[in-house]
Amino acid sequence: MNYYITTPLYYVNDEPHIGHVYTTVAADCLARYKRMSGCRTFFLTGTDEHGQKVAEAASKKQCQPQELADRMAAVYSELWSQLEISYDRFFRTTEPEHEKVVQTVFTRLLQQGDIYRGEYQGWYCVHEENYVTPVLENSQRLCPDCRRPVREVAEPSYFFRLSAYQEKVRQHILTYPDFVQPDFRRNEVLSFLSQGLLDLSVTRKNVSWGIPSPTPERYPVYVWFDALLNYLTGVGYLCQEETFTAFWPPSVQLIGKDIIRFHHIIWPAILMTLNLPLPEKIFAHGWWLVNRDKMSKSLGNVVSPRDVLKEYGSSAFRFFLLREVPFGLDGEYSETNFCKRYNSDLANDLGNLVNRTLNLVEKKCGGRIPEGQVEEVNRLTEEVQSLFREKMERLAYSEAIETVWRLVIHLNKFLDEKAPWRYQGEQAGRLLRPVVEGIRRVALFLSPFIPAACRDIYKMLGLQTDPAAGNWKDLFSPLPAGQNLGPRFILFPRRPP
Ligand code: ME8
Ligand code: MG
Repeated sequence: MNYYITTPLYYVNDEPHIGHVYTTVAADCLARYKRMSGCRTFFLTGTDEHGQKVAEAASKKQCQPQELADRMAAVYSELWSQLEISYDRFFRTTEPEHEKVVQTVFTRLLQQGDIYRGEYQGWYCVHEENYVTPVLENSQRLCPDCRRPVREVAEPSYFFRLSAYQEKVRQHILTYPDFVQPDFRRNEVLSFLSQGLLDLSVTRKNVSWGIPSPTPERYPVYVWFDALLNYLTGVGYLCQEETFTAFWPPSVQLIGKDIIRFHHIIWPAILMTLNLPLPEKIFAHGWWLVNRDKMSKSLGNVVSPRDVLKEYGSSAFRFFLLREVPFGLDGEYSETNFCKRYNSDLANDLGNLVNRTLNLVEKKCGGRIPEGQVEEVNRLTEEVQSLFREKMERLAYSEAIETVWRLVIHLNKFLDEKAPWRYQGEQAGRLLRPVVEGIRRVALFLSPFIPAACRDIYKMLGLQTDPAAGNWKDLFSPLPAGQNLGPRFILFPRRPP
């Protein structure tokens, strides 16, 4: 089975914060899970480099937009490598290949009458790169989403005939409940549709930084029309037909809830004009808040992913994001929450389990994997595996981790009750055997979430393989008895609260 998964493209106007990291970590976890399930997986992410917002940021920084884009694309790809993001392609909208695809699609829509020339008159929010109906507050017209002042736009423009797809999109959403996920978002999308769709201006006469439209005026293409098409170019549409045929349509597209309308309404409409099958699932996650406000630069409450990485490392960071909050809901980010979660789950439950078990194997079994029965762990593993699978398929990351914790808790309790430290030799070994084996399985289960730490656990167990390169079938191929443990260290040192 082939599996195609995408994240949104990140704007290159500014430094990333942890809200940006969230979508990509979640997508990476799913991609890793699918690979371990034997799926041929294509995981696409990248940067959104055109548009007024990027052009204005560049001019503020006194550089060319392309320079800013190059610099920030490098910042993102470096961040992704530190976070162990296993994408198959890092896509940039300034790639020449993409320009060709955007122009070809634009031309086709013009020929079909799905794009026509007209006159745009209205309001625009540069920060959201969105045409909006502003709200009036203190005599200022503000963007209803981000509350920044909007600008008036009056210019000749080309329009995408979005209104013609209103009923078709609605029917699709009603027929395929998986298309809008989580379920509780569906009504929001439907109610927006029922207000009626306006045609969408897809060129920006007075914005210079964009792909020239294939029209006599060469007006630059509206950045969202350009950006959405990345999901096509990125997987080979009109460029690498073999890849495209193998992977289209997307199995899952992850987005934040702020870009639902673009993805659940405009995007399917574009695909309908191209006669392409629609994505199976588009899942919108919630926001990371700081003191109940969305994390954003203008509010001055951003947390830098680089600081968190330096302080805690990639595993703790990924773990926190995916464990702390049910995927789909908003979450509150704070040092206190982070530290609590880190100490209780990673330092105490998991880290301590690994540490004390391997110390005992060292002391009681000469540092070799002991002989012994693992039936009880097998039974529990089977139970955990089927629950784990069900939760991962629903993108219930936090619940999936909780399920694995049944194993972690069981192993800690088993140690406490059986007290292998009271015994010697084979007798101690027989008690330790199921625990070491259980630890290996925990590492395999958690590998999509905290790949670096699980790699370390495997090494400490004396294994030469990377769990991430494994398969769920490996759950039931136990450690060879007699094998030497590898070098050991403390995985998650406890933090002062
Ligand atoms: O929207 N909490 O890019 P972007 C959680 N270029 N997620 C957050 C967040 C927060 N505080 N802040 C941002 C764009 N995000 C477009 C996408 S796709 C064809 C074009 C998430 O850089 C946000 O929801 O503003 C989105 O999923 C992602 O970061 C990129 O945001
Ligand atoms: Mg945004």
